[in-house]
Amino acid sequence: MAEHDLKTKPAEEVATFRRSLRPRRLRLSASLRRLVRETSLKPDDFIYPLFIRHGRDQRIPIDSMPGQFQLTLDRLPAEAKAIADLGLPAVILFGIPAEKDTCGSDNFDPEGIIPRAIGIIKEAAPDLVVISDMCFCEYTDHGHCGLINTPDNPHFDPNLPLGYLLNDPTLELLARASVIHARAGADIIAPSGMLDGMVASIRQALDADAMSHVAVMSYAAKAASVFYGPFRDAAESPPSFGDRKQYQLDPANRREALKEIALDVGEGADILLVKPALPSLDILNEARRRFDLPLAAYQVSGEYAMIHGAARQGWLDLEGAALESLISIKRAGADMIISYFAKDAAAWLDSA
Ligand code: PBG
Repeated sequence: MAEHDLKTKPAEEVATFRRSLRPRRLRLSASLRRLVRETSLKPDDFIYPLFIRHGRDQRIPIDSMPGQFQLTLDRLPAEAKAIADLGLPAVILFGIPAEKDTCGSDNFDPEGIIPRAIGIIKEAAPDLVVISDMCFCEYTDHGHCGLINTPDNPHFDPNLPLGYLLNDPTLELLARASVIHARAGADIIAPSGMLDGMVASIRQALDADAMSHVAVMSYAAKAASVFYGPFRDAAESPPSFGDRKQYQLDPANRREALKEIALDVGEGADILLVKPALPSLDILNEARRRFDLPLAAYQVSGEYAMIHGAARQGWLDLEGAALESLISIKRAGADMIISYFAKDAAAWLDSA
């Protein structure tokens, strides 16, 4: 009986038909389930984050992110090769500079931590896509994502509130740093500061410097999330005063998130990113429907830490919880996922 016949049939017949519906038929065996599975994970889906610092031959564990480390530059060739050997296509880099200052100058120093790291990784594993997270919070002594309106700042504007993140002067620095990272060999620049106009400024600067082949992955909708807590330990980047709510999105706002994404599409972003991942699945899914650009999701440090925390207590199965959260992010619409589970997932999927 077809669905459209039901209106014309006697009630009893319809009731019998309804009772005969058995969606469970297709879940009977593992092979059947494989056959009808709509979404799957593969190593190609993942981007692995790396935290890089100065020093020699060190691999410093990050307490709040079990299994994750800060690596010294000399550890990068082996790490990059291991990541490539797992079949992962890309890494995203975060740097801990030797010194921080008010304008985050290490970020636009050609000898800064990340430009050096990019060169080293590209030499060791030339096929690995290198994404440079483009933000100032790891490099400024105040831990904010750009220049701050204080009287000692050359860009001080008495008309703006004290402590305000100066948008346009920061855009100039983001553009400058992006060119430096691109010249060092980055394949993708990923601005993550939620400044207005960051994608357009970076695109323009790259193009003006003969870097039109370098892509921009925009953290288009990034919420001011509590789930970045462990990352701030890892990158040594907590803000020294206040919080990031004057530039990152209110997690309560879905329409505003979609407006932010639309702006970045208009400014020429090549890849769109939504963050955090599980708390933003609705936004991710709506972005998938509305926009045709590749879509990334960032399963952030707190999402990783939650799963590990529960697994340590024996409350959740680590592999099961990690893979289920990753498949859910993919099902919601992500084409690629930045995840601290990337290496584990590649290994788990290989042995499945
Ligand atoms: C830099 C940046 C942050 C994260 C990625 N890029 C920190 C922040 O915005 O405070 C967080 C990633 C994570 O929690 O894993 N702006």
